[in-house]
Amino acid sequence: MEGVRRAELTDGPRAQRAKLVATSQRPYDAVPMAPFRRRVTRLAALAGTAALLSACAFIEVDENPLTTFEPAGPFAEEIDSLFWLVFWIATVVFALVMLGLVVILVLFRDRHRGGEPKEPRQLHGSPKLEVLWTVIPALILAVIAVPTVSSIFDLTECGPDAIEIEVIGHQWWFEYHYPEADVYTANVMVIPAGQEVCAVMTSDDVIHNFWIPALNGKRYLVPGQTTNLRLQADEPGEYWGHCAEFCGLSHSLMRARVQALSPADYEGWLAAQQEPSILPAEADPGYEGYQVYLNRRCVQCHTMRFDDAEASVLIPPEAFNGPELTHFASRNVFAGATLPEEGETHEEALKRWLADPPSVKPGSFMPDLGLTEAEIDALIVWLESNE
Ligand code: CUA
Repeated sequence: MEGVRRAELTDGPRAQRAKLVATSQRPYDAVPMAPFRRRVTRLAALAGTAALLSACAFIEVDENPLTTFEPAGPFAEEIDSLFWLVFWIATVVFALVMLGLVVILVLFRDRHRGGEPKEPRQLHGSPKLEVLWTVIPALILAVIAVPTVSSIFDLTECGPDAIEIEVIGHQWWFEYHYPEADVYTANVMVIPAGQEVCAVMTSDDVIHNFWIPALNGKRYLVPGQTTNLRLQADEPGEYWGHCAEFCGLSHSLMRARVQALSPADYEGWLAAQQEPSILPAEADPGYEGYQVYLNRRCVQCHTMRFDDAEASVLIPPEAFNGPELTHFASRNVFAGATLPEEGETHEEALKRWLADPPSVKPGSFMPDLGLTEAEIDALIVWLESNE
């Protein structure tokens, strides 16, 4: 009985069938390759898509303000040149490797003209090659490391003549303090063009990251610590930025703006910021709004310096505080530099913001105070009078 079964397994119909299946599925003649022309078309489509995607990084700065490819000052330029150095070294390495690969594939392909395919000579290790392909990359990395490490230190070690501006991160807005003039402002960092600014940075709550791509790279704002970042804009202009570390619910709405002014305009701006606001008298158009500010809890978080020292509302910077409102109307953006949105006026955006802050900036610490429309309108009149 056993003998019969063994014979069937080696020579029986089942074994024959198994042999047939095995021979028809030899890998060499399993699937014919696609015709040459179709392969070229596919490759061209792939290359086209890759070129299109890479082109996205180079679109106009107006449409894409957070690009590092449009440096506007020496520190961003330093990063940019480092990038291009590494890019071209990598491109040469890539081209050489690909060229070598193609040459080897063509020269050493299995020709087996007429005969059976034969197995190539098997090699196990070549000390010469191993040393070569360890030493060459090590040398390339050493060449890249020298300017990289020196840049890392250079970009954060402020020069002796730099103008110091403190940057304080809050959930979710940036506060700026000019220590010499003792001026506080928010959302828009005003700097003089053509001069080095040293951003001395810390955080009031969680870790944030200050990033103005046209002026320098990213750097952390850490609670309880101070970090420095050098900034310089060669020309007057507006430079966009963003918090670059996830810091809570409205991280994506924590934007930054740097406004570079000519040195003379900068001095004028700083002098104007030092001036207190005029306390509105009962007959002034802003009086009603000022009353809303006093009576609807705005005073609990927002500093307001008036020409009447006694009437001034001074929230200590170390207490929980919102942006100082003294020169609110001099800033072209507010609410974490996210408002006004494109096509929206300052007033329209302010109306939307004051009506329900958390709906604009989720998690906002400025609550919905349930202001009436009349109160909001009055507040806007008063706020917009504080240039
Ligand atoms: Cu602050 Cu993200």
